[in-house]
Order: sequence, then C-alpha cells, then structure tokens
Amino acid sequence: MDKFQITGGTPLQGELPVSGSKNAALPALAACLLTAEPVTLRRIPPVKDIATMQKLLAYTGAQIDQQDGSVRIEARSLDRPEAPYDVVKTMRASSLVLGPLVARTGVARVSMPGGCAIGARPINMHISALELLGAEIEQSHGYVEARAPQGLRGGRVHFDRITVTGTEDVLMAAVLARGETIIGNAAREPEVTDLADLLIAMGAKIEGAGSSTIRVQGVERLHGAEHTIIPDRIEAGTFMLAAAITEGDVVISNCNPEHVSALTVKMQQAGAEVADAGPGALRVRAHGRPTAIDVTTEEYPGFATDLQAQYMAWMTIAQGISFVTETIFENRFMHTQELARMGANIRIVGRQAIVAGEPELTGAQVIASDLRASASLVLAALRARGQSTIDRVYHMDRGYERIEEKLAAAGARITRLTD
Ligand code: EPU
Repeated sequence: MDKFQITGGTPLQGELPVSGSKNAALPALAACLLTAEPVTLRRIPPVKDIATMQKLLAYTGAQIDQQDGSVRIEARSLDRPEAPYDVVKTMRASSLVLGPLVARTGVARVSMPGGCAIGARPINMHISALELLGAEIEQSHGYVEARAPQGLRGGRVHFDRITVTGTEDVLMAAVLARGETIIGNAAREPEVTDLADLLIAMGAKIEGAGSSTIRVQGVERLHGAEHTIIPDRIEAGTFMLAAAITEGDVVISNCNPEHVSALTVKMQQAGAEVADAGPGALRVRAHGRPTAIDVTTEEYPGFATDLQAQYMAWMTIAQGISFVTETIFENRFMHTQELARMGANIRIVGRQAIVAGEPELTGAQVIASDLRASASLVLAALRARGQSTIDRVYHMDRGYERIEEKLAAAGARITRLTD
C-alpha cells in the first residue's frame, strides 16, 4: 500500500490547478447509459473512482474510449444491466446506475452499498423514489432488483431529506419516464446542475435544476452529446486550505469561485486573504495562525461536509476554540484521532468536534480512513514540524488527481512511497 512522506513547514507558492469534479463526473458517466448514441465527456478526472465507474459501465455492455482527458461512451446495447458487489463495495456511488439502467432497459440489479468509514450510506430514498415512478423493487441476497417492463411513468417525488446521488438517480430515471415528474426537496449541489445540463444536451426536458424543485417532462429517447464537467469544488477548497495552513500564497486556477463561497467566507473571517485572480481563479494568502471560527456542515450552498475534515485541520492551529458540527454524516470524525497524533487538541461530543487551537503540530505516522480524512492529514502534515508518514493513501487516490505532484509543484515536500 502506498504512503505519503511529507516534511512540513514550507509555505506553498505558485499555482494549484483544479481538475474536473469527481462527483459531477460519476453521474455524468452513469447518464451515458441512457442513450444508444455516443456521449463525449471532457475534463473527466483520472482518479480511481472514475476508473471504477468506467469498469462498471463496461461490465453492463457499454463501449468506452479514452482520448486525452475526455471519454467517449457508447451504450449501444446493455446486455448485463447489473452493478456487482465487487464494484459497489469499493465505490458506493455505483448506485447511480440504478435509475439509468431501469429507465433504459426496464431492469436493473445493483448491489446494496453497505456502510463505510463516514456512515451508513443507505439508498432507501433512491428506492422509494423509483418505486413512485412505477419501478417494482425487490431486495434480496444483498441486491436491489428493479423492474419496469412497461417503462417508468412520471410522478411526484418528495425526498424526506436532501440526497445528492438520490436526486441524480431519480433525475436520470425521470428523463425517460412517461409524463411529468416533479422532484421536491431536491439537492441543489452544482453537481446536480451539471448533470441536468448534460441531460438537456442529450435531449431531456428539465427545469429548475439548482433549485429545490426540479420538473422533468419525460421524452421517448435521448441522443448523443458532448459535455465538459465542472471543476472540482472540493479539490479547490482543499487547495485553498493547503495555502492557508502553510501560510502560503497560491493561485487556485481552473476553479469556479462561486462554488466555494461558503468556505471563502469562513476563511476570510478566520483571517486568510481570499481574492479573485481573474476568471476561474482565486488567490489565497495567509500569515500567522488563523482565528478560531465555527462551522456547521450543510447541503449546498452551505458549508460542504466534504471540506469539514480539511477545515478542521486548519482550525487545529487556530488561536482559540472552534466548534465543528457535522450534520450530514453520522461518523465523519475519523480524522480527529489521527490529527491528535500530530498534536491536535480535539474533543468529540456527539456530532460536534471542539477544537482547541495549538501553536504547532508535529509530524507523526498516521493512517487515512477515508477520502477527505486523508486530505485533512495531508494538510496537517504540510504544516507540522518534521516528518509525517500517511498510510493508506489509496483513499486519496479515489478522488484527487496526482495530488502529490500538484502540491510538490507548489513547493511542498511530499513524496509517494510505493511498496
Ligand atoms: N441518506 C439516506 N438515505 C438515502 C440516501 C442518503 O438516509 O437513500 C442519508 C445519508 O446517509 C446521509 C445523507 O442522507 O446522511 C446525505 O447523503 P447523500 O445521499 O446526499 O450523499 P451521497 O449522495 O451518497 C454525495 C457525495 C459525497 C458527499 C455527499 C454529501 C457523490 C458521489 N458523493 O454522497 O461525497 O459527501 O453527497 O454532500 O456525489 C466524497 O466525495 O468524499 C463524498 C463522500
């Protein structure tokens, strides 16, 4: 298993370019199953989760061609409308193929995701929404099997709570359902809007994506399209915090500053300078320790749960005490034990982490438990005095493209150790 070795203490300088969004690319790839015609997706990030999703599409029968950062998918016929356990256990977003497969072929068999390090990850809301569109769903032997031999029909879906991939799954099913579907309490994440843009380019009729009510008029069939994936707002936010925690001066390029507004405000309150640096770019500068500022994770446009761990890494060196409250996932504090090994002073009370800022962190051997937890450990290590080793960086490889190369180009002392 690969490790990162990091020697902390160097302020990052220069530029950190952001890749395409993993969480927008995953549903976009699944959406390619909705048409027999070729779809070309540009700015697909070459990260592990994307490779897994492509493997899954190939398993169902789609033809996949990679060409220089873009991917061409042709799902002419789908002989195996199934997501097997071996794929789903490494990537829970595989449930995103449930909606498209049942809408296109009338049948889908998808392994249940099971839990992971950040929480239970159920898909009950995906299932009940698809049932509302007329799918007959059975759950047995760890699989969800959906059938709609006569096709799906439109309906009124209202999610109990906001679900990002649930909204995407149902949106992909609704575009081929007969009649109108209204999705209430829909996720407003930019990744949902990006998916809707792709579906519209494929001939779907969708209104309201980006708001909490989405209206879809089903169409008979979709056609091929070309689409460019939005920049990864979580990678952008991770880089903003990398600049701040190292007291650096970095331009984060190829990003959408609007998508990181909630983080920008918190960082400015905590004393970092975050300024526009031309189209699609932000300049982040910081000097000295930040002021402790509380955050509570929320659905978009609130503070992203996917940036909670990285923000907390910065708060470990703040002046004062901050409260970091996690409202989206029940178990997303695994990084706190490892941060403590680096000298952080954090107490967990239920869904709240109380972080008492310390003047410095010290390098240590730590273990990454999930994707964003590993990013928080990398940030802490970039700041810490001395050397750190971060084990299980395969978690990081699931969602960040060549992170060590990007950080090294901005002056970080980071190397990958391969067994
Ligand atoms: N939930 C249910 N039932 C469902 C679906 C969700 O109870 O049927 C609960 C979840 O357990 C959670 C909450 O609802 O407590 C919200 O979960 P959501 O469905 O929105 O999460 P997701 O769609 O599975 C996506 C991202 C996550 C990100 C969350 C929240 C993708 C592929 N994944 O997950 O990204 O944290 O939204 O914004 O888009 C990551 O990239 O590291 C990551 C975990």
